[in-house]
Amino acid sequence: MTHSTPSFTWLLLAALPACSSAASPPTESDPTRAALLELTLPPTPVLPTDVSNHWADDSGAAAFGQRLFFEPGFSGQLLDGDNDGTPEALGRQGEVGKVACAGCHLPDHAFSDSRSVRGQISLGAGWGRRRAPSLLDVAQSKLLTWDGRHDALYNQVFGPIESPVEMNGSRLFAAEQVFALHRAEYERVFGAMPPLDDTTRFPALAGKAFGCANLDEQDRVCRGQPRGVPGDGAEYDGMSSVDQEAVTRVVVNMGKAIGAYERLLTCGQTPFDRWVTGADPNALSAAQIRGANLFVGKGKCSSCHSGPYLSDEKFHNVGLQPAIVATVFLDDNDSGASVGLPSMMADPLNVQGKFSDGDDGRIPTTLDDSLLGAFRTPKLRCVDQRPSFMHTGQMTNLDDVVSFFDHGGNEFGFPGKSELTPLGLVAAERADLVAFLRSLTGPGPSAELRAAR
Ligand code: HEC
Ligand code: HEC
Repeated sequence: MTHSTPSFTWLLLAALPACSSAASPPTESDPTRAALLELTLPPTPVLPTDVSNHWADDSGAAAFGQRLFFEPGFSGQLLDGDNDGTPEALGRQGEVGKVACAGCHLPDHAFSDSRSVRGQISLGAGWGRRRAPSLLDVAQSKLLTWDGRHDALYNQVFGPIESPVEMNGSRLFAAEQVFALHRAEYERVFGAMPPLDDTTRFPALAGKAFGCANLDEQDRVCRGQPRGVPGDGAEYDGMSSVDQEAVTRVVVNMGKAIGAYERLLTCGQTPFDRWVTGADPNALSAAQIRGANLFVGKGKCSSCHSGPYLSDEKFHNVGLQPAIVATVFLDDNDSGASVGLPSMMADPLNVQGKFSDGDDGRIPTTLDDSLLGAFRTPKLRCVDQRPSFMHTGQMTNLDDVVSFFDHGGNEFGFPGKSELTPLGLVAAERADLVAFLRSLTGPGPSAELRAAR
């Protein structure tokens, strides 16, 4: 055994600095231990069941969903002139079939949008106004998007597919494209498709005759009627209600497949978890440990960023005065969840509707005034991989985010009433909080999950 003594001594010496009280993993007697343990992932994290999606944990559906996630063939023409063929655009104005989910949720960048100008807001067919959130650990959220406009992964896909500034497609065209491009795989998972090649029942939307043809860039709405969607007064509205439902169900099933795939995207175990659980007492630097203590203590961050994914999944007004992003855009009148939640509650595609496979009561029953200007608390695992921060994308580094919270947010220039108060941190404490946020980065999804298939 003597041969092991030198390295053992070396190990002890190397561990010495970590034995000071600031750097030790929390002990039973440490008052912040319970608070920090609440932020820890269990060794084998369990995905919350998604009762709305019968295929949520079906591996065939997930593989199909992965294929669809990288498929640009559901998208309509690029409308905004900023689509000029540069790397920041997905193609040139007038081109079709250029925008996939993966175009704005880049797999190698935590499924967020690092591509578009300054990594702030996304240029799809046109310019959106909100930042594309990272999709890592998205299955932990029941209410989706910054304002809660969707209540399930399966219905969220209708948002980008039918938005004139995102994919500028339409549900009828998307269903026809699944039939044309992916019929066999669809049918293996979901059973027989409706006869979408029967043009007497399902008008063919070839060329550019679907989605929006003319965008009001200021208001981000279509001038004239988008085609292939409910209310088009044309191809979609002309179908029988049975066929309309069949088309919608194909896109719902696309959403269920994509949802099954998205459930697999996770940030994973981080240095923070290894440190708190004692698995690796040296996993964090002294600054990161001080930051962890501030996060649950003086910084009051965990009052909203709670639980293993560091979000209470609620909507808060943090008093953010919008600033110019992507060099020219200022989104100064976003009411947030006070508009998003009612819109989700009225959506016939929500989990209470006929396209859902179950309802676990995720839709709130009452809404209050605090939702004006409120946005969903972002989860913070893998936060340092995001190219920008806040729903506007206006902050491009974590130092600015922490300073923002230290100031108690902005004084004015936002809708509603802020919940924040100033924290009075000193510069070293702010730096410690940033160091802690950087300890929340795990390995992310495997290379197989990040690749098109
Ligand atoms: C043009 C860019 C763009 C494209 C294309 C796009 N997204 Fe997004 N995505 C966004 C933006 C921006 C948001 C935030 C929307 C909001 O909060 O209003 C978002 C939000 C989401 C969310 C909610 C995440 C959360 O944490 O709440 C999911 C899930 C999602 N997208 C999946 C998809 C899927 C699946 C597709 C393809 C069918 C897709 N996205 C296509 C930009 C895009
Ligand atoms: C009152 C609830 C609340 C408190 C307290 C709070 N946050 Fe947040 N945090 C939010 C909300 C809501 C957002 C998104 C705001 C927006 O986009 O308008 C956010 C955004 C963030 C982001 C940006 C993440 C992203 O993807 O854009 C980081 C980082 C962050 N908070 C860290 C902290 C830290 C560190 C503290 C403590 C100093 C803190 N937060 C305190 C609710 C809170």
